[in-house]
Amino acid sequence: MNAQAASLLVALLASGQAQADAVEEDEAMIDLAWDSGCFNCHDLNKTLRGPAWRDVAERYRDDGEALDRLVATVREGGSGNWGEERMTPNRRVAEEDIERLVSWILALPPDQE
Ligand code: HEC
Repeated sequence: MNAQAASLLVALLASGQAQADAVEEDEAMIDLAWDSGCFNCHDLNKTLRGPAWRDVAERYRDDGEALDRLVATVREGGSGNWGEERMTPNRRVAEEDIERLVSWILALPPDQE
């Protein structure tokens, strides 16, 4: 590979990384998750009372129906998919906010480390 191609490749890799970082560092979404109470039970990387959101993304990434189903689960609450802990209903959060949150969760890239 010549030097020019090599530097192009480096730039491409770097922009892919920047894009991955941009998803998880989307401050508007992080604020929305705080305001909606999600982070009382969730973290992006760690299992708290609820599953790590990165694990949720991993499980449903290729499931075309996951978005609708998960929006309903977050709204109505659920249990038994990840363990014994129960997610209580989140009916005070607007449905469109739940939709934005779940689409964002599903777009989280796998952990880089
Ligand atoms: C009271 C604690 C709690 C709160 C608040 C909470 N969750 Fe959960 N969440 C859980 C638990 C526990 C599970 C695992 C339930 C199960 O095993 O089915 C879960 C599961 C999930 C799942 C995966 C569901 C599935 O069927 O696999 C998603 C997506 C999710 N939560 C998103 C959210 C969002 C978005 C919010 C904020 C609007 C939120 N959660 C607020 C506890 C919570």
